Amino acid sequence: MKYRVTLLEGDGIGPEVTGATCRILAAAGAPIEWERAPAGGEAMEKYGVPMPEVTLESIRKNRLGLKGPLMTPKGGGFRSANVTLRQALDLYVGLRPVKTLPNIPGAWPGLDLVLFRENTEDLYAGIEHEVTPGTVVSLKTSTVRAGERISRWAFEHMRYRGRRTIHCCHKAPINPLADGAFLNAFRKVGGEYPFIEQLDIGVDTLSLLLPMDPSRFDVLLLQNLYGDILSDLCAGLAGGLGVVPGANIGSKAAVFEAVHGTAPDIAGKGLANPLAVLLSGLMLLEHVGEWKIAGRVERAVWDVLAAGKHLTGDLGGKAGTAEFTDAIIDAL
Ligand code: NAI
Repeated sequence: MKYRVTLLEGDGIGPEVTGATCRILAAAGAPIEWERAPAGGEAMEKYGVPMPEVTLESIRKNRLGLKGPLMTPKGGGFRSANVTLRQALDLYVGLRPVKTLPNIPGAWPGLDLVLFRENTEDLYAGIEHEVTPGTVVSLKTSTVRAGERISRWAFEHMRYRGRRTIHCCHKAPINPLADGAFLNAFRKVGGEYPFIEQLDIGVDTLSLLLPMDPSRFDVLLLQNLYGDILSDLCAGLAGGLGVVPGANIGSKAAVFEAVHGTAPDIAGKGLANPLAVLLSGLMLLEHVGEWKIAGRVERAVWDVLAAGKHLTGDLGGKAGTAEFTDAIIDAL
């Protein structure tokens, strides 16, 4: 059986890093058939929007997508293509594992964290208006339904993966209703998982403690904005955006993507590091239960990184995208 997966190559370095990922997954024998769909600049030219309906429809049909980075057009009156994608498909779980890989400059040793970000509410609902000239109101939304479903997903993931401790991050003393609702939803759902240690922590305290000693945390559950900011902080602890994968998951579809952007400064030069998109591809394989193939590719990645001979520039090496990709295929 083959999985049909919608491929959004993306802008800038997108086609280079998704191309490298497709080559490696094919070499590993991953049972995937790609269905290309336009997004970003290509879609703007053809359809006048960065995330056209034809692409959303392809993901709805296949229920799986792999996405390269997309440029957000500035000042054109468009919502970010990424936000459109998450909201149109109700991809409410932002899943970001943050793990130390070998030979990554500046990475905390032994880091092994999982972040869950609620992807659909909070300030990202985009409800803003000017009450009187010079006074703007921007609404933070928080529903019990959203808090409960992301909490349940996080607890189920922990049960399945054998994770032990979760911290729910909030600023409830300042936002007692919005953050309080999220915290209450976490506690209510948590009652069904007594075998998991459940704690809560202020977003300010978490921001202090993470860079001091991330090893004290296992799983973090955060609302949209806190999750957006702290997941980048955690990526920094793992050595930067170039090595961190991500997934946006809903009950009907899941889209896997690197966290970094289109890197316009190196686009088209064959220098980009494909690791983050590749690791996102491995999350996709795990999501559909292809653990064996995902594990094999992960071991090949670890071998190449540990050997340190074919690293891309951002990892302190001199290799280009093709050489790094070939090295992983050789290691397979
Ligand atoms: P960026 O992540 O594209 O680049 C920041 C720095 O990291 C640059 O020096 C770049 O060369 C480097 N870098 C990023 N990915 C790399 C990789 N795989 N290999 C080697 N070096 C890499 O962030 P920036 O410049 O702020 O954003 C550029 C564009 O990307 C913007 O239009 C932004 O809207 C978009 N963007 C899209 C995202 C997405 O689609 N998920 C996420 C973040 C930004």
